Amino acid sequence: MEDTVTEDTITEAVRKQYEAYSYPPPVEDGEKFLKQWGPLTCDPKFAGIQLWPEGRTRQDLRILCAGCGSSQAALIALNNPDCAVVGIDLSETSIAHSKRLGDRHGLANLELRQMSLLDVGELKRSFDLIICTGVLHHLPDPDAGLKALADVLDPSGSMAIMLYGKSGRAGVYLVQDILRRLGAGRNAEGVRTARELLKFFPSNHYLISATGKLPHDLAHDAGIVDMLLHPQDRAYSVPEIMEFVEAAGLAFFGWSDNALYCADRFLGGEMLERVLALPPAEQWAVVDNLTVLNDRHDFFVRKPQSTRFLTRFDTDDFLSYVPHVRAGVRLAGDVNSLILTRRALQGEVVTPISRSEALMLEQIDGKRRISDILSHPMFTGSEPEKRTDFARVVCERMWRSGHVLFGRSGS
Ligand SMILES: C[S@@+](CC[C@H](N)C(=O)[O-])C[C@H]1O[C@@H](n2cnc3c(N)ncnc32)[C@H](O)[C@@H]1O
Repeated sequence: MEDTVTEDTITEAVRKQYEAYSYPPPVEDGEKFLKQWGPLTCDPKFAGIQLWPEGRTRQDLRILCAGCGSSQAALIALNNPDCAVVGIDLSETSIAHSKRLGDRHGLANLELRQMSLLDVGELKRSFDLIICTGVLHHLPDPDAGLKALADVLDPSGSMAIMLYGKSGRAGVYLVQDILRRLGAGRNAEGVRTARELLKFFPSNHYLISATGKLPHDLAHDAGIVDMLLHPQDRAYSVPEIMEFVEAAGLAFFGWSDNALYCADRFLGGEMLERVLALPPAEQWAVVDNLTVLNDRHDFFVRKPQSTRFLTRFDTDDFLSYVPHVRAGVRLAGDVNSLILTRRALQGEVVTPISRSEALMLEQIDGKRRISDILSHPMFTGSEPEKRTDFARVVCERMWRSGHVLFGRSGS
């Protein structure tokens, strides 16, 4: 009798894979890791304003790492000793690695369970922050996974999600297809076959990056299995992400870094004007399809009642926002050609700015509201309406580039 592929058999294959090839590679020393790389981008100490622009104490958070892998939950617990962290994962090996890391650092605030995130309701708890990165796209039914997580998200909670990106992963699916035809399995022989095949890759293949290199994950066995031999893996376009979030009764709350979807970086002239006239989600879809850079999408979602805290510039409410310059942003250039620049996931983000824009940005201290900044004598010479319009254009452009993040008073 032919084997029928059911959701259970897929889940079982996913579990087995992560037991044999735990991914990402385990971290031996969490303190060393955090010192070298800094906090994870989903860490509340890093993403605080993006998770809760309205402000929220970063202590005493109840955090769930759903599909925590080998180290994520332990690293979050280590960096947030005042928070209670629960890590769940299908794979016994991933849980064992996480436990080893937790024990090494004596993490009393870390609880680990081997279970599917589909069953998270059985914990009978709710969470202020749910982190689920690189997991939902491996479920046979990702929608059911997001709904299960939404059910345990506190009404004022926030979720950090990472899903694969369709445009940047086109090459991955072509290679997966070849390896399926060759009968490569998730074992040493399959890895050997993949390595052999990669020797023949033409430099113009979609798998090869703009810098002419194969993805660095392909340097180790677990990375090869995770990327090229996975039994269950799908990727999302920007519109598909918006639909996915909405179908779970949640609201899209912004990208981890807007720069990866910023039309100003990749377009100019009339074409930029046309794209900027579109609603933000349409702009992001255009940029994602145009650049084919995004092999992953990192974003935040919340319950619909929190959408009042979304950053927007179509009313004068933005005057009460408190701008914060993102870590790593530098002002460079000379008086005649100033730029803001910083390192991002896919290279340097460079934004030309005028002198008056630079003067306004210099006033940002993470405490004052935009209206406070505009009351500086430097700006009070111009009409209030002109001042507001100037600030709106500058702030919206800085928001699109991801250089400036916006909290609310008291955040
Ligand atoms: C690519 S790893 C990502 C790990 C971690 N989130 C990170 O970003 O480092 C995917 C993890 O999700 C786990 N996983 C897959 N399906 C799951 C499910 N239904 N419930 C819980 N964990 C799951 C796997 O066992 C694996 O450890």
